[in-house]
Amino acid sequence: MADYETITVERLGAVALLTINRPDKLNALNNKVHEEGVAALEELKKDDTVRVLVITGSGEKSFIAGADISEFEGQTPVTQRDLFHEKTLFNSLDTFPKPVIAMVNGFCLGGGNELALACDLRVCSETARFSQPEINLGIIPGGGGTQRLTRLVGEGRAMEIILTGDMIDAKTAEAIGLVNRVYPADELEAKTMEMANKIAEKAPIALQLCKEAVKFASRSNLDEGLRREVDLFAICFSTEDKQEGVSAFLEKRKPVFRGK
Ligand code: COA
Repeated sequence: MADYETITVERLGAVALLTINRPDKLNALNNKVHEEGVAALEELKKDDTVRVLVITGSGEKSFIAGADISEFEGQTPVTQRDLFHEKTLFNSLDTFPKPVIAMVNGFCLGGGNELALACDLRVCSETARFSQPEINLGIIPGGGGTQRLTRLVGEGRAMEIILTGDMIDAKTAEAIGLVNRVYPADELEAKTMEMANKIAEKAPIALQLCKEAVKFASRSNLDEGLRREVDLFAICFSTEDKQEGVSAFLEKRKPVFRGK
């Protein structure tokens, strides 16, 4: 794995841990983070030994405190639009084929919340705080916040979060379905790794197809979605892992999936 300035990537068995590493700026997302994050995801995508990705922020205070506001200075509509249509971490996470867990360890604001929303699962510490504060800067979310948040928590709750810019606490985030689980801060990493390792033992191709099918649900109507599900389900029957899963069940043993 290449050396990066603004992120670190660690291998913990079948799980890769990508950390946004700008703690003095509360891990705000600047262009370099996007560039390096996209490059790291390209590498991790191709590495068959990586089965699950966990993303977090460095330090104890913040997951990601949003886009780096200092880079907004001097942007024109054209440069800003190009940047966000270009390769961003939001887009790369959205199309990343393996399961991704956002491990939210503090402030999860603006682009940070949008990055967490582009992941498949979100777990957080009791100290985590969430918001889309763009309205306070006179702008709107631009990294998927208006679309993914609305699909995840519903229009009424998304409107409240986006129109007020208020922070919500971890308990509220869990109650509205913004996060899957909340843990005491000192248990967050262990609990997240437990979840990641559990998923890492599943059949990789089936995991990828599950992601594709579930994501398609909010991008299609029911008939199209049901047809896509059957097609993806049928693909599973061409895999060695399906044979292994069925044989293991019939032989009353634990399956060993190889991603083939
Ligand atoms: N972009 C750039 N720098 C940021 C940042 C952001 N989104 N969020 C925090 N920082 C920087 C601060 O400027 C400060 O840098 P400095 O020490 O060089 O002055 C450092 O991170 C620490 O932040 P600070 O504001 O001193 O911490 P705090 O505990 O007083 O407040 C927050 C924490 C998260 C409430 C506050 O930093 C904040 O409101 N950040 C902006 C959040 C935001 O609007 N994000 C959406 C952007 S679209």
